[in-house]
Amino acid sequence: METLIVGILALGIVAVRLRALGVPVRVATRNAESAARLKASGLRVTGVGGSLTIEVSQVAAVDEYSTRDTFDLVVLATKAAEAIEVALRLLELLGPGGTLAPIQNGGVPQMLTGRLGDNRVLGGLSNLGATMTAPGVYEQRNAGHLLIGEVAGGESERTERVRQWLGRGVEVRVTPNIRGAVRSKLLLNCSVTTLGAIAGRTMRDYIASEDGRELFDRTYDEALSVALASGARPERMNVDPVPPNWSGRTVPSEAHDEWLCQILNSYGDVKPSMLQDFEQGRITEIDFINGYVVNLGRQFGVPTPANAAVAETVCSITCRKISPDPTLLGRILQAIRGENERVPPIRDGGKEWRWRPQ
Ligand SMILES: NC(=O)c1ccc[n+]([C@@H]2O[C@H](COP(=O)([O-])OP(=O)(O)OC[C@H]3O[C@@H](n4cnc5c(N)ncnc54)[C@H](OP(=O)(O)O)[C@@H]3O)[C@@H](O)[C@H]2O)c1
Repeated sequence: METLIVGILALGIVAVRLRALGVPVRVATRNAESAARLKASGLRVTGVGGSLTIEVSQVAAVDEYSTRDTFDLVVLATKAAEAIEVALRLLELLGPGGTLAPIQNGGVPQMLTGRLGDNRVLGGLSNLGATMTAPGVYEQRNAGHLLIGEVAGGESERTERVRQWLGRGVEVRVTPNIRGAVRSKLLLNCSVTTLGAIAGRTMRDYIASEDGRELFDRTYDEALSVALASGARPERMNVDPVPPNWSGRTVPSEAHDEWLCQILNSYGDVKPSMLQDFEQGRITEIDFINGYVVNLGRQFGVPTPANAAVAETVCSITCRKISPDPTLLGRILQAIRGENERVPPIRDGGKEWRWRPQ
């Protein structure tokens, strides 16, 4: 299976582990400078799963791959906005029956399927945690896996082929409900990751405050209501996506505390990836996480004031008007309590629109 991996960080682990086993994969970078840097540094994986180093020869800028090079599988591992931007060009690199597999957080597989057709796009997400610790060095932070599946649902021969192929390097699982899995991850990203980034803390830290707990419940409840209204069936990941006795709103109970503990045990001590984006001055995926929930909420008539205010706060941090701080969670709550007087702007693909209470 001729394979191209586009964007090296999260999938650097897969590229290195496959290449170390002698499985041919090629790598595409953003530009010629990134390619030259990688060639000079080589690629090294450390952390969970053991250390491995490979020389990199088959790496080039994405634009240097021409239609002469055709692939059976292109794994798209850039950030969400970049994935949407580059996907159409990558389609030209697919051979007959070739597959594009995006692994971004948020609604990317569904957006790409809508644009490119589901015979070309396979849904995916990554539970592998990876951080670049030095040029060309990627630390694997957990023994996670890739999850793939047909966006239209069900099982297929190609998911099995891709699972077996990439599975030589990392654990790959298949689900007949990738849309539901993507939604379940989105629920956690909207609450665990984004609120942690805004607070500048892990979830375990911010959830200990009353404001942190209330805002977690509100963003989660809204995101789950939107998912259900849109017809998605959120799939169980580490934790059941629907809290115990949930009735459209969180019902405080011992069972709910236990459910929250399960989330904390799985994700409570992880430094939020969006916080790393803030620190490194990189774009975030907010438009594809809380912003995506707000857009879907508007489409399906579900009010999403907490997610709208959270998305707005992230934009203010990205623009360096404010810095991550735990007190921001209380300020967001105050703002949404007075939501009728307030209409926060949300960025939508570069444009701005204003959320209006429904
Ligand atoms: N990292 C993780 O642990 C992790 C875990 C789960 C899910 N994810 C998801 O995986 C996706 C990627 O995350 P990440 O942390 O790996 O992002 P990242 O740190 O931004 O790395 C993405 C890579 O893509 C490259 N890239 C950007 N635009 C490109 C283009 N047009 N053509 C080719 N390469 C391009 C970047 O190159 P430059 O270095 O030149 O900018 C960078 O190497 C996100 O959706 C994230 O939510 C990541």
